[in-house]
Amino acid sequence: MQKDILVMNSNGPLKGEVKIDGAKNSALPILAACVLGTEEIILDGVPELKDVEIMVEVLKHLGSKIEYLSKNTLRIDSSGITTCETPYELMDKMRASFVVMGPLLSRFSKAYTKAPGGCNIGARPIDLHLKGFNALGAESKIDYDEIAIEAKDGLVGNEIYLDFPSVGATQNIMMAASLAKGETVIENAAKEPEIVDLASFLSKMGAKIKGAGTSTITIEGVEKLTGTRHTIIPDRIEAATYMLAAAMTGGEVKITNVIGSHIRPVIAKLIEIGAEVMENEEEDIIFIKADKKLKSTNIQTLPYPGFPTDVQAQFMALLTVSDGESRIQETVFENRFMHVAELSKMGAVIATSGNRATIAGVNKLHGADVRATDLRAGAALVMAGLVAEGETKISDIYHIERGYSNLVEKLSKLGAKIKKISVEV
Ligand code: UD1
Repeated sequence: MQKDILVMNSNGPLKGEVKIDGAKNSALPILAACVLGTEEIILDGVPELKDVEIMVEVLKHLGSKIEYLSKNTLRIDSSGITTCETPYELMDKMRASFVVMGPLLSRFSKAYTKAPGGCNIGARPIDLHLKGFNALGAESKIDYDEIAIEAKDGLVGNEIYLDFPSVGATQNIMMAASLAKGETVIENAAKEPEIVDLASFLSKMGAKIKGAGTSTITIEGVEKLTGTRHTIIPDRIEAATYMLAAAMTGGEVKITNVIGSHIRPVIAKLIEIGAEVMENEEEDIIFIKADKKLKSTNIQTLPYPGFPTDVQAQFMALLTVSDGESRIQETVFENRFMHVAELSKMGAVIATSGNRATIAGVNKLHGADVRATDLRAGAALVMAGLVAEGETKISDIYHIERGYSNLVEKLSKLGAKIKKISVEV
């Protein structure tokens, strides 16, 4: 059997320019939201990613007609949806597929699937999604791993308080409420830029949504949602990853198609540890430069606008070679330190206790055979491979390909020595 791996060697500082693609975490719920529309929708800035391919497969399975007008532009027509059941294989491949449940329920008053899979980071329950659907009048039945959600008399708006500002639950409830009767208020809603992007897309389709980006979102249900054209926002996590990779190699990189206000905590931390960051907000450009040894810092991940959990692994990689001792506390997900064991194989000195990690900066990492245990852990290993002495081989790179489009091409253009090869296993 053949499998793809990444082979890397350090090659000095990253230099040049890199363009950020559309946000994976915006594209996925927005594609799901297309199920709500009875007319043609055109989406621009859709990133070329495995996860996007899976969501496209989900929509096709449900009966949407999808056509690629170019590599980043899709035409979607969901007027003829034929089933409300998402197959287990697709739900198992990607947990985010669960965001089709809200739109299906909203439009057809029923949605069926099996328990969701995806990145292996913690228990990742769906209780908040189901609590929201139930508050809108749906009944959910879980029989082993089968999930059936039905609203016999249609959905009716209600007040919903989320125990935790879950991104997926906020999106699912917002979409479910869009065609419900009356007003829905989500309290303690997630405030991520991807929530705002989804709300702006739904509003273009005719939804009445107020407050997206704050912790109270109000949705006034409408009779129907129509077609529109929308451009996905830039991927703040991809942008942050390239900024950190540039800093880690002591490089100088211009990042284009990036919205600085979406990654304030990452920029603040980079400046704190000694990198130079210059923003041109009008043109969505950030310059990053690091020409001296970076310092240590302490980080706590939090829901937006706090430090993103999706950048925790990459920042840890950077701190493994910075000066002094750093601490990271992961508060969003349990079990999101799987990169620690892999980074340690490369010479990093990291101790963990529960959701806390202490990183003692070392002078050098060395190449090793490591495994991408999840998407962002994989990105952290790629960053480590950029500076490690000797060869680094990264396996299970399908995780990385779920969230970084054209990674090898983009990094090579910045001067990195990285190639994808197929090996016999
Ligand atoms: C989304 C992002 C993911 C990011 C995460 C947090 C997508 C496709 N994925 O994931 O990249 O890391 O936000 O910023 O947008 N929780 C519950 N019950 C629920 C739902 C969630 O307890 O019903 C918990 C989770 O276990 C986790 C925390 O809430 O500990 C955050 O999860 P959530 O915000 O829902 O993340 P996702 O939407 O899955």
